Amino acid sequence: MAGVSFNGTSKHFDDVVALDQLDLEIPDGEFLVLVGPSGCGKSTALRIIAGLEEATEGTLHIGGVDVTDVEPQHRDLAMVFQSYALYPHKTVRQNIEFPLKSRKVPPADRRAEAETAATMLGLGELMDRRPGQLSGGQRQRVALARALVRRPEVFLMDEPLSNLDAKTRVQTRAELSELHATLGATFIYVTHDQVEAMTMGTRIAVLDQGRLQQVGAPDDVYDRPANLFVAGFIGSPPMNIVEAAVERIDGGIRLAIGTGAFDLPESWGAAVSATGIERVAIGIRPEHLRIGDGPIDGVVRTVESLGHERHIVCELAGTDHRPGDLVPGDLVIVRQSADDPAPRMGEAIHLGAEARHLHLFDPDSGERIDP
Ligand SMILES: Nc1ncnc2c1ncn2[C@@H]1O[C@H](COP(=O)(O)OP(=O)(O)O)[C@@H](O)[C@H]1O
Ligand SMILES: [Mg+2]
Repeated sequence: MAGVSFNGTSKHFDDVVALDQLDLEIPDGEFLVLVGPSGCGKSTALRIIAGLEEATEGTLHIGGVDVTDVEPQHRDLAMVFQSYALYPHKTVRQNIEFPLKSRKVPPADRRAEAETAATMLGLGELMDRRPGQLSGGQRQRVALARALVRRPEVFLMDEPLSNLDAKTRVQTRAELSELHATLGATFIYVTHDQVEAMTMGTRIAVLDQGRLQQVGAPDDVYDRPANLFVAGFIGSPPMNIVEAAVERIDGGIRLAIGTGAFDLPESWGAAVSATGIERVAIGIRPEHLRIGDGPIDGVVRTVESLGHERHIVCELAGTDHRPGDLVPGDLVIVRQSADDPAPRMGEAIHLGAEARHLHLFDPDSGERIDP
């Protein structure tokens, strides 16, 4: 049994705050994905768990025990990196057996353990090859097998799929999820790829600039992003964000966007009034915007067909031109099924969305506003 918890854990490198007072509890057996843009502190968080980096403040617990000052070799975990870190002159078998050899496990037991791990990962036929004779996907599976033979309570993975081609990545993603289900161990997985995060994690923790932005089940984070950063980071194409002036109307509020407006019921009015703001950032996912009847006027700028779906970039009529903008107004992306009738470039359209699909944020603090 080994959950992991960060308790007010920070890491400073001189004046760079790589991790800023992280509080995060990862229960035993969870598949937690730490996700965020490059440089947000993901690897630092993982290296603190591994004991490769010392926390500047706060503590780290593994299995309920404070291990803040425990050496890496005395922590019951295994780490898998983006660069497979295999020994090039050893065979696959020798690479997988290596951690057991250094623990002085007898040769027959080593061999058996390595066979079991290799079979689990479909490496049975490749045991006598050397890393140079393997594909990227196979090498990463060897690295995983080498982690497996140690039977750790906690697996740490730092962007293990980023060197793989798209097809192998999808396949290995599924294999890792299966492996997690089979082993029941705690997996802590770092990626900058929000699709990996959404598809693999039991829960995802979103980091930005060393700070935890939100933690939750992937669907909850997608459906209810806590702030503008998470709203823009999770989802592809990203959530549309447009600023609107707030006007009070009978029975609710009106959010004016260019020449049009969304009218929202009183429950929203109260929530927005409580914040005292006069402008609000409205977030609408591309799949929730529809072309047809709707209160917002726009013009189609481009139509991108991806085969199974279409992304339509629309310019909103009457929205502000900002210095440096290439186009006069705010742009939004509409995601359509390839079965929907395609609009033409330059066509004037109306855009609408259901009120339940609107996300409201304070444009200054970025915080979500709920009715
Ligand atoms: N050993 C180090 N010395 C100085 N700065 C570092 C060191 N390691 C990481 N950083 C800085 O800490 C921040 C977080 O880095 P990192 O955890 O590697 O981010 P991520 O893995 O999310 O890309 C970055 O600004 C990075 O430049
Ligand atoms: Mg990193």
